[in-house]
Amino acid sequence: MICQWSWARRVAVLLFVLYLGVTIWGCSGPQPLSVAIRPVDEQGYRQSLNQHPQSPRDAYFTWKLVTEGGSIETIARDDAQLSATKNPFDAHRDPVAVSRGAVVYKAHCLSCHGENVDGRGVAMLEPIPKMDFHTFGKRFASTLHRGAPKAWFRKISEGYTSKHINADGSQSKMPAMGETLAREQIWLAITYLQSLDMHAVDSSGASD
Ligand code: HEC
Repeated sequence: MICQWSWARRVAVLLFVLYLGVTIWGCSGPQPLSVAIRPVDEQGYRQSLNQHPQSPRDAYFTWKLVTEGGSIETIARDDAQLSATKNPFDAHRDPVAVSRGAVVYKAHCLSCHGENVDGRGVAMLEPIPKMDFHTFGKRFASTLHRGAPKAWFRKISEGYTSKHINADGSQSKMPAMGETLAREQIWLAITYLQSLDMHAVDSSGASD
């Protein structure tokens, strides 16, 4: 029967099976903020943001200092040396990074990208389909690139204007966040985006 299928259909089926295989292997299931976030991370980051309301990057470094020790200088130096193309975190295996990423997302991305990461944030004039991170395209790209699509880090750091035209003729912007957020903060947020439709991670830290 398969021999009578068109190439397009065969490729589509192959891709689908591949997608299922990779996501199931990586564990599948929704990872909403309420599941991803460990209260200890949320409290810690909130506290730090209150101390450094002007600079989320300083808030992040201070939070890291409290949780991991070291010195602000070494934390900042290590951060500046992080790759702009390779995610240092593994969304499939690191529930702590997913939780911290969800906390970063909630503080700095949710207003536009929305509680459910579907682009329906309160700050958006109208939802943009490309901002729905649950679509097949986004899940596939994210699954295929275990280290996350490289373009995501660049788009978050440098920002850009959406091609989507709103009803009033305006175009929404993804703000450039490379100056306000630490590199590691950006990668953490991306790690959360990657984890979205994976198996729920136990907030005690033990996955399945
Ligand atoms: C002021 C609103 C706003 C905020 C805040 C915001 N974004 Fe965006 N973001 C957008 C818009 C608008 C787009 C463009 C969507 C498009 O391509 O049409 C976008 C696009 C993106 C993309 C690219 C999607 C793609 O199709 O490649 C990523 C990744 C992203 N945002 C992540 C984030 C992260 C992570 C944060 C928080 C650290 C964040 N955004 C904060 C509005 C925002």
